[in-house]
Amino acid sequence: MSNPLYIQLPGLDLQNPIMPASGCFGFGNEYGKFYDLNQLGAIMIKATTPEARFGNETPRIAETPSGMLNAIGLQNPGLKVVQSEILPDLHARYPDLNIIANVAGSCEEDYVTVCREIGDAPNVKAIELNISCPNVKHGGIAFGTDPNVAASLTEAVKRVAKVPIYVKLSPNVTDIIPIAKAIEAAGADGFTMINTLLGMQIDLKTRQPLLANQTGGLSGAAIKPVAIRLIHQVFHATNIPIIGMGGVQTVDDVLEMMMAGASAVAVGTANFTDPYVCPKLIEALPKRMAELGINNLSELIQQVREGK
Ligand SMILES: Cc1cc2nc3c(=O)[nH]c(=O)nc-3n(C[C@H](O)[C@H](O)[C@H](O)COP(=O)(O)O)c2cc1C
Repeated sequence: MSNPLYIQLPGLDLQNPIMPASGCFGFGNEYGKFYDLNQLGAIMIKATTPEARFGNETPRIAETPSGMLNAIGLQNPGLKVVQSEILPDLHARYPDLNIIANVAGSCEEDYVTVCREIGDAPNVKAIELNISCPNVKHGGIAFGTDPNVAASLTEAVKRVAKVPIYVKLSPNVTDIIPIAKAIEAAGADGFTMINTLLGMQIDLKTRQPLLANQTGGLSGAAIKPVAIRLIHQVFHATNIPIIGMGGVQTVDDVLEMMMAGASAVAVGTANFTDPYVCPKLIEALPKRMAELGINNLSELIQQVREGK
């Protein structure tokens, strides 16, 4: 019998549409102690930059009533360690697990360097280009807010990458459509969306921002309606697939995001409150689909009925 959860995307044959979002799952080691990662559709690993980064000063996480603010600042061990230790180790332990590598940098050359090499690992099936990180100076978001800069970067990495490129869109823009269209025209294979929304929280006693970085990225339940709106908009304006994320916690959130136009769904902040959230969602999907009369997920994508 065919698998009703199966989703096919550029570079990715997914046994189900659920994957942990980048930065919320490290490189899988900690969560691998809780459950067998083979159950997941894929994992999006922490951002990789050419050199190791220690990230921003602490405090760099703050809780809010319906999500969290973070300003981690792309902490990671650098391309060499990811290539020589982390990816081979994941491959040895989970030979069939799809890895989506998240690539970041401070200049075009950084992205090109990592994208040229990281797809050599047999388990890296796609790259997520993080042009939307709000938490580092001279990096990330500058690439994701200008259509021309985003297109030029996409073209540059497409020339060297050996696996499909999914570009991660920022919600911190006035109009996402020209940016998404420029990235599509530059040859991207798909979008991932959304990254965090820029936010700030103030400590009343010290009268200072809670985060050492002052501002941080808001994620979690609070941002889901923003994600749904942006996915819906981009789905209608472009023709490449979308991996959706932003505040997904429940099986209904997954189905809602797919109705808006996402072909697969990543789960970020929810992993921090429940490390089992991803396997729970995978298990819950078939029953909820049956209740709602959904035969298979690939039929569901963009089934939202526009109220008239
Ligand atoms: C602590 C933390 C670290 C993150 N690090 C990255 C990262 O390295 N690269 C990236 O593209 N996104 C990163 N993100 C953004 C998430 O991948 C995701 O886009 C965002 O959190 C929205 O999903 P959520 O509401 O389910 O968390 C990070 C998010 C959090 C909370």
